[in-house]
Amino acid sequence: MIEKTEFPHFMLKEIFEQPQALERTIVSRVGLSEGEVRIADEIHIDSAELRALRRIHIVASGTSRHAGMAGQYMFQELACLPADVDYASEFEYRNLPIGPEEITIVITQSGETADTTAAQRLAKRKGSRTIAISNVPDSTIAREADGVLYTNAGPEISIASTKAFTAQMAVLFLLAAYLAQVRQELDRENLREWIRELLAIPQKVRTVLECSELCRKLAEQFHRAEDFLFLGRAIHYPVAMDGALKLKEVSYVHAEGYPAGETKHGPNALIDEHLPVVVIATCDPRNAGSLLRYEKTVSDLQGFKKQSAKIVALASEGDREVSELADHTIFIPQAPELLAPILEMIPLQLFAYYVAVRKGLDVDRPRNLVKSVREE
Ligand code: F6R
Repeated sequence: MIEKTEFPHFMLKEIFEQPQALERTIVSRVGLSEGEVRIADEIHIDSAELRALRRIHIVASGTSRHAGMAGQYMFQELACLPADVDYASEFEYRNLPIGPEEITIVITQSGETADTTAAQRLAKRKGSRTIAISNVPDSTIAREADGVLYTNAGPEISIASTKAFTAQMAVLFLLAAYLAQVRQELDRENLREWIRELLAIPQKVRTVLECSELCRKLAEQFHRAEDFLFLGRAIHYPVAMDGALKLKEVSYVHAEGYPAGETKHGPNALIDEHLPVVVIATCDPRNAGSLLRYEKTVSDLQGFKKQSAKIVALASEGDREVSELADHTIFIPQAPELLAPILEMIPLQLFAYYVAVRKGLDVDRPRNLVKSVREE
């Protein structure tokens, strides 16, 4: 029997469990001094096959698919492997050929989602090997996969997925780093640096959780808004998508996650003083691509400000430029861009939670939803 302990809802408890959940996901799978990721025994696909890989297919539903979207950037950047990401429920309609030098990664909290199980079976019929990322031991999807990487986040009771999502992103990072190691895309020194950064994440999550009271105040201020836009570029786009999904499912508020650069291709027409815009505007100054994206995001913020938008920004610790443009800023500890999404997600989960609480909704059991969708 799992209890809420001192927390009023499972969702809040599970948000606050993320530092320990991430430690369980990460620590036993890495050797810092050796600069090594140790997941070979869990994957059950030999190194020669992994070295020959040319492409990855990712299938998942809902929040798990958003983790897959973040994983896409990790596989490309660390292991130089292109990945495509599909909704499990749409996978069969694409009738995608899967070649011998390709694998399928199936991401799921419950391990029982019917659409995801069906997509996994289809991938296997097409001759693909599958690796499952699952939170539930011995679940159907885990049993049917060639290899399983458990997220080890612990039981997730709240229907809205929180700690499983950040653990999925950590596992995807480990898998991408492992593929880079096997394929010799990263040398030991580089891998050691990435592992050091990954190991620092749980403690940074503890720091981000200190913004809980600020998120509650923002929820107090914005709980009457009927629509929200969440924006992010590159790997921050799936975070925007999941921030919007959390708000929709627990607060019953219409919210859209959009790639920041796409706003000028349509959604900009909606942006005025009545539409709160949540912008992920963090920056990794050691990464030239991140700096470039940051500059574009700052320019977006300037445009939104001219349109009188109410801006809530997520910015890197100490960023004055963004905080002067935004109406409200939540600061995120500095992290490499590939790992920042784990930190960025926390305030968005907290915001959705507090809006739902403020509206008096059944946070852990939103209407019309179930924890695991067992029918296609
Ligand atoms: C959102 C949420 C759902 C699930 C989706 C997939 O918070 O929980 O969108 O992510 O139903 O479920 P799993 O991961 O169990 O396959």
